[in-house]
This record gives sequence, structure tokens and C-alpha cells, in this order.
Amino acid sequence: MTNKLYGIDFGTYAIKIYHYRQGICFHQKSVIASRGKDQIIAIGEEAYEMVGKQPEYIDIDFPIRNGVVADYDKMLALINCIAMDMARAGDKMKGASFIIAVPTEVTDVEKKTFYDIIDSSIIRPKRIRIVEKPLADALGCGIAIDDSHGSLMVNIGADTTEISVISQGGIVLSRLCSCGGTRFDEAVIAAVRRKYNLMIGPRTAEQVKIGLIDLASDGSGVMKAYGRDYMSGLPREREITADLVNKAVAEPLETILDAILSVLERIPPEISADVYRGGITISGASSALGGLAYHVSQSTGLKVNIAPNGATSVADGLGRVMEDENYEHLAKPLKRTYYEND
Ligand SMILES: Nc1ncnc2c1ncn2[C@@H]1O[C@H](COP(=O)(O)OP(=O)(O)OP(=O)(O)O)[C@@H](O)[C@H]1O
Ligand SMILES: [Mg+2]
Repeated sequence: MTNKLYGIDFGTYAIKIYHYRQGICFHQKSVIASRGKDQIIAIGEEAYEMVGKQPEYIDIDFPIRNGVVADYDKMLALINCIAMDMARAGDKMKGASFIIAVPTEVTDVEKKTFYDIIDSSIIRPKRIRIVEKPLADALGCGIAIDDSHGSLMVNIGADTTEISVISQGGIVLSRLCSCGGTRFDEAVIAAVRRKYNLMIGPRTAEQVKIGLIDLASDGSGVMKAYGRDYMSGLPREREITADLVNKAVAEPLETILDAILSVLERIPPEISADVYRGGITISGASSALGGLAYHVSQSTGLKVNIAPNGATSVADGLGRVMEDENYEHLAKPLKRTYYEND
């Protein structure tokens, strides 16, 4: 394979790009700040810093929602900016070939949209192929996907949790559940409002979630959070407790656990035995939630392995597809039928 080859995981929260033989070369928030139709103000982390603070004339958009492209024009603008920023830093994607990870449980049209974004960008790609996201994820987690053992993968991202059963190099079952880290943040916002009459922003909620959550214990930590008092309208500071956060996230966590259990119930018996022996592998950046392994293990009775590289496992797996010829066949051209449906 040529050196000009990149793998992209378009996440709702973060875009991860893997450069052939060099590793992750881009990992930033999927956010774009713009003014009017044509003026891009910031992208990635810089744009995310503006969330909740921007003046009225600046729009802040997350062009990917629920794992699929929700705003085509903004997504195209974002990828063009990424290509320009990377070129300035000496990493020129122009004319390169691409492998894109796509969720399994989305429509063909939604899969084709990822392809179209790269195809119509200033990159002018040479070739684009796609890989099913759970297969890339499993490879990125170091699972030998083509042996006869079945594996259960759970990727907890921002808007979605993708649960997949993989065996003999293919996907036996897959389920995309519309619940992830963002729902935990929303639950924290609601709980802080109920308890303290305090309105906190999504970035504060995320910091509190990451800093305090401990699903393995009752939690004794506390963190200061700043927001606006609902009654007086004035800025206030409150101490948020781990207990409040743990209780707040119970509902979205239950939704994810129910989805895992419903997949477990549908697994063919031979693969069930493999999952019993090998356990569940959890990836996605939300897999770093404190005490998650303990909680899922208690609820399912199964061993739980948390991927050490959960935030980038899908992109790392795309790297394996590029660099290991045994897995190159997983990268497939877009099906002709996608075009026939145009
Ligand atoms: N240390 C951490 N502990 C808990 N949650 C975390 C941590 N770091 C990041 N997160 C959460 O992980 C989520 C982002 O995960 P990830 O980057 O895997 O999502 P994504 O791939 O962009 O989204 P999706 O797969 O839903 O399209 C966010 O909700 C973020 O708050
Ligand atoms: Mg993801």
C-alpha cells in the first residue's frame, strides 16, 4: 500500500484520523464555529472551547449526530479545514487514498454520505473504501477477529453505543443504541438543576462527569461547578458530589445495559460460550467512565475488558487494516447499489 493512505473515524464527538505507518495524526472534536455561510472561525478543540460562550452571530455546529452526517455542508467545510490545517503542519492529504469506518446499523445512503464528503472535498482523493466500524474497533482492541472465537464488542461513544458480535471475521449481530456520553452529561445537567437550582453548561457537566463518576462505589468525591442560579439569575458556585453524578447517570446507563442484555439474549449458543469465556470488550472514549467494568460485570455476570485505547480504537483498527495484509480485504469499495439509488 502507498504511504498516502489515511483511515478516518468520523465520531459525533471527535474525528480521529490514522496515517499509514505513522499512527493517529488528528484527534479533535467534531465541531465547527462559523459566521454566516462562508466564514469559518474555528474548528475542533478551539471551536469546542467556544460552546456556550459564543456571541449570537457565531454558529457552533456538531455536523455529525447519532453517528451519521446531520449537516452535509458544515461537515464538508470541517473536513476542508482539517485538510488545510494538516497541510500547513506538513501532512498533505491531497490525492491520498482513504479508508472510512462506518457504523453497521445505518442506511446505505448514510454510509454513502461519508464517502461523498471525502470525495467532494478539496482533498480530491485517489481512492475511498469503507470498513464496518465494529470490525475496525475489534482489530484496534487487539482481537483476532478471524479466528473461530466469537467476541462481544461494546463501543460507548458520545451519541451512540454500538454493540456487536463478531465471529470468523464477520459481524454476526449488531445494534446501534442512541445513548452515550452526551446523555450522561444531559442527566448531570438535569440533576444539578433539580438539586441546586443551578444551570450548568454542557462542558461543565462533562468535566463533572469525568471527574466524579465512580460506578464501583457510592463515591465520596466533590467538585466545584459554576453556573447560573435559576431563581436569582446570578452566577453561583456549588459543590457537586460524586453521589449526585452516580445517581444522575443511572437511567442512561440502564438503557445501555438493556441494549447489551438484549444482544446477549440473541447470541447463538456456540458464540455465547465464547463470550462467557472471553467476556465483553468495551471501547469508545466513554469506556473510561470510572468503575464501568465493575458495574457492567455485576449486571451481566460476565468478565469485562476495557480497551486501553478506547478513544481511538476504531482508528487504530483502520491502521491494522492498512498495515496488515491479512486484513486488507475488510476495506471495500462503496457498493454500486448506493449509486443506483441516487
Ligand atoms: N475520561 C473519560 N471518562 C468518561 N467519559 C469520557 C472520558 N473522556 C471522554 N469521555 C466521553 O466520551 C464521549 C466521546 O466518546 P468518543 O470519542 O468515543 O465518541 P465519538 O466516537 O465521537 O461518538 P459516536 O461513536 O457516538 O459517534 C464524550 O461523551 C466524552 O464526554
Ligand atoms: Mg465512535
